[in-house]
Parts: sequence; structure tokens; C-alpha cells
Amino acid sequence: MMYRLARPLFFSLDPEQAHAVALESLRMAHVLGLLAPLARSIPEDPRDVMGIRFPNPVGLAAGLDKDGRYIGALGALGFGFIEVGTVTPRPQPGNPRPRLFRLPESEALINRMGFNNGGLNAFLQNVRRARFAGVLGLNIGKNADTPLERAAEDYLTCLEGVYPYASYVTVNISSPNTKNLRQLQDAEALGALLGQLKDRQARLADRHGRYVPLVLKIAPDLDEEAIVGIAAAARAHAIDGLIATNTTVSRSEVLGQAHAEEPGGLSGAPLGEASNRVIQSLVKRLEDSIPVIGVGGILSGADAKGKIAAGARLVQLYTGLIYRGPDIIAQCARALRG
Ligand SMILES: Cc1cc2nc3c(=O)[nH]c(=O)nc-3n(C[C@H](O)[C@H](O)[C@H](O)COP(=O)(O)O)c2cc1C
Repeated sequence: MMYRLARPLFFSLDPEQAHAVALESLRMAHVLGLLAPLARSIPEDPRDVMGIRFPNPVGLAAGLDKDGRYIGALGALGFGFIEVGTVTPRPQPGNPRPRLFRLPESEALINRMGFNNGGLNAFLQNVRRARFAGVLGLNIGKNADTPLERAAEDYLTCLEGVYPYASYVTVNISSPNTKNLRQLQDAEALGALLGQLKDRQARLADRHGRYVPLVLKIAPDLDEEAIVGIAAAARAHAIDGLIATNTTVSRSEVLGQAHAEEPGGLSGAPLGEASNRVIQSLVKRLEDSIPVIGVGGILSGADAKGKIAAGARLVQLYTGLIYRGPDIIAQCARALRG
């Protein structure tokens, strides 16, 4: 309700500026205790996935809070879990602005942020300071200037750092905005990367006396053969979960609209069906061996139900929050409770 009044104001600003103002407003609202009624309106609907109890199945997708600066405020909105990052070992500025675009006709965004973030140390400081009691996913990536052959080192550095603070760790190999990153989804590269990550996870589990699930986030722009390969690698390496999907490089759903030609990843409503297709195909290949978290194009409770119908065990959203406001969380949670 409040968001309906605030949205025209946010949408009158440059998208990235609006993003910053919205997050600062949210922090203020949280400090003033104004978010509590929102969270209270969300039904308890616990789901046990990857050995974690999620209070409800609706999560915040990665990328809204890249540095983990707003964990408390975002957690107070009533999400069943929140995922922050992507973090890279070293700070990096990301791509030049403008790098975020609205396509309001389709309730979509195009972004080519390029993993702008303050680096692992700053991220960990923020995460520690948050002392968040809810389910927290920490999403890790590689620096833009790390050659692809050395990508595993970046992921391992990040895994070491975030492990003690994460409910689960997401390995992001699917952003279209870091050159060649998505090649890590190819069978050979993926097998090598997952092998090293699983080894390190086992050692970290020993060291910290706690097993933290490792989750792989994949792109929507994959053909059947690629999905079969990813499912096989995930099973072979006993990956704990998959997140499907990241943003798409396809523009087939938004042709002719302003900004449609901007390079980057498309998110929001036009991504929904492509993401559902990947989830369906992945779930079929995984034969229930590994849970899938469904994300991409959830703008309503019905969309969230569509993800579960496609075989996802939990859902996440980002762009829906920008277009529909925080009420979308309760709408999805209620729709999934049935
Ligand atoms: C501006 C923006 C930045 C994003 N940054 C990240 C990121 O850093 N890491 C990541 O794994 N996904 C990132 N994503 C992808 C989202 O987590 C999500 O997978 C995608 O947007 C599809 O969901 P949606 O349609 O609900 O937005 C980003 C998305 C947007 C719109």
C-alpha cells in the first residue's frame, strides 16, 4: 500500500539512484520499527530443504544487496530467506554507468552491473555486524580481471571467507556481465570447479564443525544438452542445491521496447517461462536427488506457484520487489501455503 505511493517517486529517479534511495529508506523504516507489521502478515510455512528449516519458501534473490549492507532491513520484510552478494575476493567498481534500465511495459529490468562490490573483507564485516538470525545465503563470484583458468582460486577464497557465516553458499557461474563467466557451466570446467569446491567444503565442515550446503546458480540460456551436463556434474559432485535461474541474454520477449537493445541480463516477467523450462528440465534430470530453488519472473503469487509446479522446492525474487513492492512477499507466501 505504502509502496504504491512511493513507487512513482522511485521511478522518477535514475534506476540505480532509486535503488540506493529505496534501500536507505528501508533501513530507516526498519530502525523505526515500521516493517514489523509486514513480516507479521506472512504465514508460517516451514520447509526443510538441504538440511535447513526455511520459515517460508519465499526468498530474496542475490544482487539487490551486493555488499550485505541491508541484511537486517531486508530480513525484516518477512522473506523466508535472503541471499546477498555476489561478492568477489577484491573490491571492484563494476561496469560504467548507466548499467541498469527499466522496461516498465514488461515489468522487466536489464542490468550489466558487473559484480560491483566492496570486496570480501568489507562484505564479511557487514555480514558479521548484521548478526542475522534468519536463513542467509551468501553468493560468491570471481573478479573481472581474474583469468578464467584461475577462477577456482577466487571461488575458493570467497568460500573460505563466507563459510562460517552462511546458511548456504551460492556459487554464481551464470552472470552474463562478467566476461566468459558462463563458460564455467561447460561440462569439463564445471566438473573441475565443483571438485575443488566440494573438497574445500569438506575441510571447512571439519574445521568449523558445521556442514554448510553448496548451491550452484545457473543461467536460463542453456540448451537441453547443457542442462543434462550440469545435472550430471551436480549429481557426480553431490552439490546440495541448484538455483535456476539468473538473468537472460535473450531479448525475444521485449523486442522493440525502449532499452531492449542494451547489453546485459534481462530479469522480471519476460524471464518467467524460460526459467520455468530450465527448472522443469533440471528437475527431471535430477530425479529428486538435489533440490532446485526457482527464480526468474515472479511478479505474483500465481507466478510463485508456477515455479513450484515446475518442480522448485523454494522460490526467490528480485525484480518483482521493484515493480510490486514488499507486499509481493506475503502474496507469494500465501499463494504457496494454498
Ligand atoms: C540489478 C540486478 C543485479 C543482479 N545481481 C546479481 C548478482 O550479483 N548475483 C546473482 O547471482 N544474481 C544477480 N541478479 C540476478 C537475480 O538474482 C535473479 O536471478 C534474476 O534477476 C531473476 O529473478 P527476477 O526476475 O525475480 O529478478 C541480479 C539481478 C538484477 C536485476
